[in-house]
Amino acid sequence: MEVHVINHPLIQHKVTLMRKKETGSKDFRTLLEEITMLMGYEITRDLPLEDVEIETPIAKMTGKQISGKKLVIVPVLRAGLGMVQGMLDLIPTAKVGHIGLYRDPKTLKPVEYYCKLPDVEDRDFIIVDPMLATGGSASAAIQLLKDKGIKNIKMMNLVAAPAGVEQVNKDHPDVRIYVAALDDHLNEHGYIVPGLGDAGDRIFGTK
Ligand code: PRP
Ligand code: URA
Repeated sequence: MEVHVINHPLIQHKVTLMRKKETGSKDFRTLLEEITMLMGYEITRDLPLEDVEIETPIAKMTGKQISGKKLVIVPVLRAGLGMVQGMLDLIPTAKVGHIGLYRDPKTLKPVEYYCKLPDVEDRDFIIVDPMLATGGSASAAIQLLKDKGIKNIKMMNLVAAPAGVEQVNKDHPDVRIYVAALDDHLNEHGYIVPGLGDAGDRIFGTK
């Protein structure tokens, strides 16, 4: 199983707070944004740099800046929206695409209802979604990007189930998956155990 678990102590602490059933929407959203930023720091470790000539108040120097290749953050609606601001706080110049997918509660298969992406030339894409359960939504979101000719794709989830990781590994072996926690299994309704419940409902206060 190919997955990168980013288990910094701050991330583990915050994920535990999110899992607690008594944590309300406001704290849940704040924690998700904070964890996204901490994970984003690690995920962007390989961003290419270029030299830039600058002048400090004291002297001229050659500094480093992120090279022209810009990032695109792609939240999977709805729950992925909760991870957008954390990434934009880190990389304010990133563009944001949106993919709308919901899981049919009976079949657990993803149903697409929206897709709007910025221009795709020479950009790295990071798909964000708090939950990787059966992997159906993640796999479909990746396929949507690939169908538009996009090659450099990373997947970023908060909590994953082994079955979901295996599904994405099988369908898209070229896509690296980053998670904050790898949980135990899925229950009969396709929910991650122990998980944190329905991420979209907890973010937006719906049921
Ligand atoms: C959740 C979650 C993922 C998907 C994961 O979305 O945000 O997109 O389920 O499940 P899977 O790995 O089995 O496909 P949901 O369908 O509940 O939609 P929502 O974000 O609009 O609540
Ligand atoms: N979607 C969620 O929001 N939570 C799960 O545990 C599984 C799918």
